[in-house]
Amino acid sequence: MAQLFDKFSGNYKTLLDESLQSTGFDTEYFSTAKIKTLARLFPEFCREPIRFLDYGCGNGSLYKPVTGFFPQATYVGTDLSDDMVQQARTLSHGPDTFFELKSDAWKTGHYDVIFAANVFHHIPDTDHLKILKELRPLLTPKGKLILWEHNPWNPITRKIVDDCVFDKDAVLISPLQSKRLFQKTGFYPLRIVFTTFFPKSLEFLISLEPWLEWLPLGGQYLLIAENPDQQAIP
Ligand SMILES: C[S@@+](CC[C@H](N)C(=O)[O-])C[C@H]1O[C@@H](n2cnc3c(N)ncnc32)[C@H](O)[C@@H]1O
Repeated sequence: MAQLFDKFSGNYKTLLDESLQSTGFDTEYFSTAKIKTLARLFPEFCREPIRFLDYGCGNGSLYKPVTGFFPQATYVGTDLSDDMVQQARTLSHGPDTFFELKSDAWKTGHYDVIFAANVFHHIPDTDHLKILKELRPLLTPKGKLILWEHNPWNPITRKIVDDCVFDKDAVLISPLQSKRLFQKTGFYPLRIVFTTFFPKSLEFLISLEPWLEWLPLGGQYLLIAENPDQQAIP
């Protein structure tokens, strides 16, 4: 069955760049910023041979920053849209990097990090719990499931999403809703980090962001959950 993002796979980057124009930054900047934030929050990822699952990898825009910031990491990406996976494959020569969601190949082994960046607001909320329950057993004992989402409490974020052609299906999830969802799935402890406060015109303030992560006005936020089944895997 064709998926919404199949339609946009050919010009996804152009459309996203257009929708981000008001921020002064482009998609590459935001992809790098996401992984740079993870590197700041979890410096061990930069040194350790982690397995990193990019859930809802789209056209694979996180592949380069992940392999750049986390040089020891094994990156695996999966996406519901087969066409987006095809696009992503043009980035990597390895056969074991990008997989269609329906394939079982990405479900082999465990992951130290499962990262879903701007994916869950495209998934009907009736499926959220089911997907989290499917992802939970794929974590290593100390693994982390990290959601990166648009913050609906930020009016500029809401405007960008409203105007974006491939966000027509998007239902933004508030930090509190995400927290409740994860709690229902049995995840703890949970940490929320707010991010993406400043446009390019205020770039000189970006270095202050680590001190603002408690402030619920960031354009985006991360929800970080530890594996609750720490004893489950021998
Ligand atoms: C806005 S894009 C984000 C892509 C990428 N994560 C990024 O940060 O650039 C959302 C992606 O989520 C994918 N998606 C939607 N529903 C999904 C699901 N149930 N499972 C996996 N991927 C899904 C879409 O096909 C699309 O490629």
